[in-house]
Formats: sequence, C-alpha cells, structure tokens
Amino acid sequence: MTDYAAQPLPDIRLTDHHLDILEQLDASNVELEKCISMPPAVYTSEDWFEFEKRAVWDREWVCVGHHGTIPNPGDYVSITMNEDPLLVQRKDDGGVRVMSAVCQHRGHVLGEEKGNAKVFTCPFHGWSYDATGKLVSAPEMDAHVSLKELQQKYCLATLRTEVWNGFIFVNMDGRAKPLAPRLKRLGKEIENHKLAEMGGIPTVDWGPSPWNWKFMHENAIEPHHTWYLHKGPHDFAPSRLATFAEWDDLDDGAIFHPTGFLKLDGNFTAAFSCLFPVIDGLTENERKRVMFACILPNLFFGCVPDGCFYYCILPQGANAMTIRVGFVYPKSTLRMDNFDIIFKTVVTGLETLNDQDTGANTSVHRGLRSRFAPRGRYAPKEATLPQFNRWLITRYKAYAGELERQKQKSKQAA
Ligand code: FES
Ligand SMILES: [Fe+2]
Repeated sequence: MTDYAAQPLPDIRLTDHHLDILEQLDASNVELEKCISMPPAVYTSEDWFEFEKRAVWDREWVCVGHHGTIPNPGDYVSITMNEDPLLVQRKDDGGVRVMSAVCQHRGHVLGEEKGNAKVFTCPFHGWSYDATGKLVSAPEMDAHVSLKELQQKYCLATLRTEVWNGFIFVNMDGRAKPLAPRLKRLGKEIENHKLAEMGGIPTVDWGPSPWNWKFMHENAIEPHHTWYLHKGPHDFAPSRLATFAEWDDLDDGAIFHPTGFLKLDGNFTAAFSCLFPVIDGLTENERKRVMFACILPNLFFGCVPDGCFYYCILPQGANAMTIRVGFVYPKSTLRMDNFDIIFKTVVTGLETLNDQDTGANTSVHRGLRSRFAPRGRYAPKEATLPQFNRWLITRYKAYAGELERQKQKSKQAA
C-alpha cells in the first residue's frame, strides 16, 4: 500500500462544445499587445468546468490552508475541495496529514469545521478512525464481519501532500510534479517573509459568490483596475508602481507581481500603513511593496511588510465560488495584548476592497453570460492575465491531447 491514495476522477468524453472552446484558445495565448481574453464559456459553462476539474483541479497542487492555523498535534480543519470533504491535521511528528473526511460506512462526512482530535467518530452510526485514517471501531458490525476484516478494506484515504512556505497543498491524482521546484522565482522574492515560521488565526469563509473561480484570481492579480475601482483605498499603492515578471515555462507554479507603496510600510488598513510590527529582516524595497501571487489553481496571497493575507478559492461549479480567507503573522505579533483590537481594523481595510471587488466580479460574471460577452484586449497593466491564460491553456490542451490519444487507441483496438 502506498502512503497516499490517488483516485483520479473518471475521464469525460470531449463534446463538440469542448472542442469548440479548445479551438478558440490560441488567441488568448499570445503576447500581451495582441492577446484577447478567454472565450466567455470558459467562465460560465458547467460542462467546461467538468473538463477543467480533470484537466486542472485533479492534476495540480491544490491549497487547503496554512499550517500556522494547526500548530499543535491533533489540531485539524476541514475543507471541501470541489466534491471532496477533507480533513487537514497536524501529526504527532510535526508534519501534516490530509485525509478524506468521508466515512466508509455509508458516507457521512466526518469532523467539525475545526478542532483537536485523536479519533474521528462518525455521528451517524459510530464508526471511528484514528489520526492515520485507520478504522478503530465499528459498533455492532461484528454480527456480520470482524473489525479486522473491515480494517483490511476500509480507511480514510490519505492524500499526497506538499508544504511550501507553510501552505499545505494536496494533489488528487497523485501524479503532479513536485511543486517547490516550480516556485523558485516567487520563493526568492518572499523568502525574507519567512512564511513557514508564521502563526495563523482561524480562517473565515466569504461566499458563496456568483462568479467563476478564475475571475477571482484575475481580479486579484491584475493591478489595472485598482486605480479605477479602488480609487481612494488603494491610492497608497497606485497601479503605476506595479511591475511584472517575465514568464518562465520552467518555473510556472505561480503568477506574481509587486505593487510599490508611496511610502515605507504601507498596508491595506484604514491608515494605509502597517499597524503591526514590520517583519524582521525585510529589505527597504520589501517594506515598500506588496507582493501579490497566485499559486494556481486556488491560492492567492499578498505579502505585506507586517504579515501575509491569503485566499483559498473553493469553486462550486462554474458559476459560484467561496473564498477561505486567512492571515499569518510572526508569532510575536500574534502574542501582542492588543492583537485582536488592531486586527479588526486590518480586516475592515480588506473588507472595503473586497466589497468593491464583489460588485465588480458579480457584474462581470453577468456580462460574461450575455450573448454580447466580450473577448476584450488587455491594457499594459493587465500583463499578468496572458500569463494566467497560458498556464490554463497549457493544461487544457495537455488533457484534451490525452483524451484524444486514448480515443485513437481504443479505435485501433476495436
Ligand atoms: S455513515 Fe458513518 S458510521 Fe454510518
Ligand atoms: Fe480588486
């Protein structure tokens, strides 16, 4: 038995609808000056989302949180990734285990939202599993089958996991290349933040919201709109101070860009400055910028001079998503007596921007569902979007190619 269980979703058949979209993608994978946005159906079609779950979500490293929120052995949080409820738990040896939360008796989901547990007991009929996922109790079943026999067949599946800078990722199909070697450039940019050493506070879920998961990233990673939509609360970090990284297909784990501040130690608070102590060891340049990053498909974060905020994006089909919002800070900051009071004003600052983004994202999604939906041209400050398209299209085409090859093979065999 491997130490993790890989269970890819069953393949789908490519329909005319899929093929039609695939044929239209190339115009969104060219240089910024000529590039146009993706076909609207990529954002609105539930059929396309079924394709995307297999092409992207099953095959990539998907973030399920930051280990700072589960500091002690036994601490766990639950999270549902597409249709899979999961438990994310700190192990006794300090590592992290991610398991399916689906009881193997009849399918009840285990675990409350968060807590500390050595054993997970199903509330439906009392089956219990230890922290490794092993079945340890199955009341009244011994009339038909021994616990030993049940144990040979039933456990909570452990998923392949990688932790990068404290962020916990799982790979559902078990075949993804390691993530860290594809995050070299971003890793260098944020190494002084020492995110792996930070502690977390309980996350909150915002949503469900009526737009596609990809548009959440697009809004978050393009600085063009900040000068218009966020006029006022974002002016301390004006879009003219945004810079962009060259794309690198060999280091393609993240899309990122910094935006500079007008003054040292800026932040998204009511005062437009950091309210907590600045992280030890940051350079002057790092204190004068926010580094935004998307580790696709579902982590977005912003490194500011006193900490880091992050969103885990959780799709509910093509037309809705929820974000799990978290913050990590140096442990000395979390121990401050007035942490809770100050933190409230930090959240208020982020909520102001999020309220503006909510209006815009809802509106764009309505526009993308119209028969008059655009495939628009990009502005210079939208330079991250062709990179995002390229990342997606590479994966879409790889999966479509695989399906096509399988089809040819079965034709030849017939
Ligand atoms: S479904 Fe969990 S014990 Fe029956
Ligand atoms: Fe925004």
